[in-house]
Amino acid sequence: MKAIVVEAENLSLQDVPDPSPAAGEVVIDVVAAGVNRADLLQRAGNYPPPPGASEIMGLEVSGRISAVGEGVSGWQVGDEVCALLAGGGYAEKVAVPAEQVMQVPRGVDLVSAAALPEVACTVSSNVFDTAGLSTGELLLIHGGSSGIGTHATQVAHAMGARVAVTARNREKLERCREFGAEILIEYTSEDFAAVMKEHGGADVILDIIGAKYLASNIKALATGGRLVIIGMQGGTKAELPIGLLLAKRLSVMGTTLRARPVHGPGGKAEIVAATVGRTWPLIESGKVQPVVDRTFPLAEAAAAHAHLDSGDAVGKVLLTV
Ligand SMILES: NC(=O)c1ccc[n+]([C@@H]2O[C@H](COP(=O)([O-])OP(=O)(O)OC[C@H]3O[C@@H](n4cnc5c(N)ncnc54)[C@H](OP(=O)(O)O)[C@@H]3O)[C@@H](O)[C@H]2O)c1
Repeated sequence: MKAIVVEAENLSLQDVPDPSPAAGEVVIDVVAAGVNRADLLQRAGNYPPPPGASEIMGLEVSGRISAVGEGVSGWQVGDEVCALLAGGGYAEKVAVPAEQVMQVPRGVDLVSAAALPEVACTVSSNVFDTAGLSTGELLLIHGGSSGIGTHATQVAHAMGARVAVTARNREKLERCREFGAEILIEYTSEDFAAVMKEHGGADVILDIIGAKYLASNIKALATGGRLVIIGMQGGTKAELPIGLLLAKRLSVMGTTLRARPVHGPGGKAEIVAATVGRTWPLIESGKVQPVVDRTFPLAEAAAAHAHLDSGDAVGKVLLTV
């Protein structure tokens, strides 16, 4: 099969051996693969795949099952699916544990389905299972126009929460409004903590920045607020204002999806099942839609990376096979 291979940060389409399904796995003939910010880090050598995962980039795909391994039940050759991966998505075929495979939600085309696994599993597990966002609460999402942000806004809005977002400019913020955000904060000119305080503070913050925003995030939280950090775009070391943490009874949490085991408490199988149960009905009723900014052919993966890196995308960038 063909796959994207990285050599000294250069991406090229090359011939590599076909994967075959181990026990408990299926092989998917890839139709589309999601491009994630993590892929840019992996390409630069800063985010190596977890032990045992494919060296090929790509954390999510959509496609058709072409082989079923021993002991797999519930999936058959020909099924149209999407899947969460530990790696291997930038290729014509990928092998994946059967528990990480999801049916394509009714009403979603097979290419757009590749925009769902990473964002849906990340948002469902962090915003709801980890931070416990509930109806009527106020959620602040940093990077509202990102793949994660556009999905988180729609799901939280559909679940009856109020949504505030940050983005770099008014144009992006107006797009965020279309997805259900009601408090729009231009982070290049406004102090998001001050804006959130005017609105009574955030009950939950979904943060992708890390160190640079830690102190302001703590200020932006309401009493009983929960900060869940899923990205480190603004560094990893910062001072935590413990006085405010205690006075406001706050929780600070951090998670990552890729390195989790497949099975066991908090594993990917559990997250995928919970995500399909929570989010798929919202997608099938039309309340939540995949947000695809642009698609590129697999051979143009480098151009897709440049587009994501430019900061111009709203929603997901996909590769098509
Ligand atoms: N822990 C996990 O399991 C997990 C899983 C998936 C993703 N993530 C993380 O989630 C983040 C988003 O991923 P993605 O693939 O959706 O990326 P993406 O579409 O490339 O989005 C990156 C976002 O960062 C925003 N941003 C940059 N600087 C900012 C700042 N100072 N304040 C607020 N926002 C800022 C950008 O907003 P503007 O364009 O408006 O500047 C953009 O929306 C990444 O950091 C990724 O690593 C974590």
